[in-house]
Amino acid sequence: MFKILEKKALNEQVTRMVIDAPLIAKKAEPGQFIILRIDEYGERIPLTIADYNREDGTVTIIFQEVGKTTKQLGALNEGDALLDFVGPLGMATEYDRDLKRAAVIGGGLGTAIAYPQIKKLASMGVETDAIIGFRNKNLVILEDEIKEHASNLFVTTDDGSYSHKGFVTDVLKDQIESGVKYDLVVAIGPLVMMKFVSKLTKQYGIKTVVSMNPVMIDGTGMCGGCRITVDGKTKFACVDGPDFDGHQVDFDEAIRRSAMYKDKERDAEHYCQLEGMNNG
Ligand SMILES: Cc1cc2nc3c(=O)[nH]c(=O)nc-3n(C[C@H](O)[C@H](O)[C@H](O)COP(=O)(O)OP(=O)(O)OC[C@H]3O[C@@H](n4cnc5c(N)ncnc54)[C@H](O)[C@@H]3O)c2cc1C
Ligand code: FES
Repeated sequence: MFKILEKKALNEQVTRMVIDAPLIAKKAEPGQFIILRIDEYGERIPLTIADYNREDGTVTIIFQEVGKTTKQLGALNEGDALLDFVGPLGMATEYDRDLKRAAVIGGGLGTAIAYPQIKKLASMGVETDAIIGFRNKNLVILEDEIKEHASNLFVTTDDGSYSHKGFVTDVLKDQIESGVKYDLVVAIGPLVMMKFVSKLTKQYGIKTVVSMNPVMIDGTGMCGGCRITVDGKTKFACVDGPDFDGHQVDFDEAIRRSAMYKDKERDAEHYCQLEGMNNG
């Protein structure tokens, strides 16, 4: 069992948990993820390793309550334990040693996944601009944590309720057009956001890495659930990724595939509520 050592709400939908998982903490690297199962009846869900502490033997996850399992997870408290917590899975992110300046873009919850990348680039001495975007002020997360590591931080809100009004792509474009030379852009967030960041950076010939988060089932390359197309070839995000060259990902296909399971997910949550009522 994997004990929840700390729990903190980052906003009304997003929670950070620190989990006692020494073996994973020992090997974890930025870019990797875990798959957890709350109990023997639970679904397996992938979550990014947002942080780790090898000395304390802890792994931090940050999750948004979007459906059945993440809501169940959010209802747990410090002292509770998870049945399975498997990892580290996926390829660790590799960056060139000669990078000078990078922009890391986080869209919504993607900011939590972008955070370890910002930390890693900053620790390599890369001048790192963080550009994080949210629908509104109430959804902004990790601002203080990112400020500690990023050289510059830009926050955007779609409705202008906080900081820059507009999209992350607007700030990125302004930065590039004002003469800032990025060797690398990392974009993590909704598929549509990563698609448009990649489209923009392609025009300027800036290398771009995106983090693909398709539905994953086994996380070992066996089930094919996380299949995506990159440079015309089939790749499995769980073992070949989750990071890929944004200029080569077939985003339109990924967007179509991401919509395939929506009805089943709605049913799963609906069934759960009925089951709860029957049991109550
Ligand atoms: C590599 C990877 C890293 C991720 N990291 C994070 C993270 O750090 N924080 C976070 O909040 N979320 C993360 N996600 C998404 C997270 O796995 C889903 O939000 C979660 O599985 C939703 O489950 P649910 O039962 O609560 O909701 P559901 O109602 O089942 O699904 C809601 C939405 O979540 C996605 N989803 C559902 N099941 C899966 C699955 N098995 N695999 C992937 N996506 C799924 C789908 O887009 C779906 O529309 C990550 C996904 C992947 C693939
Ligand atoms: S999750 Fe099964 S192949 Fe990737």
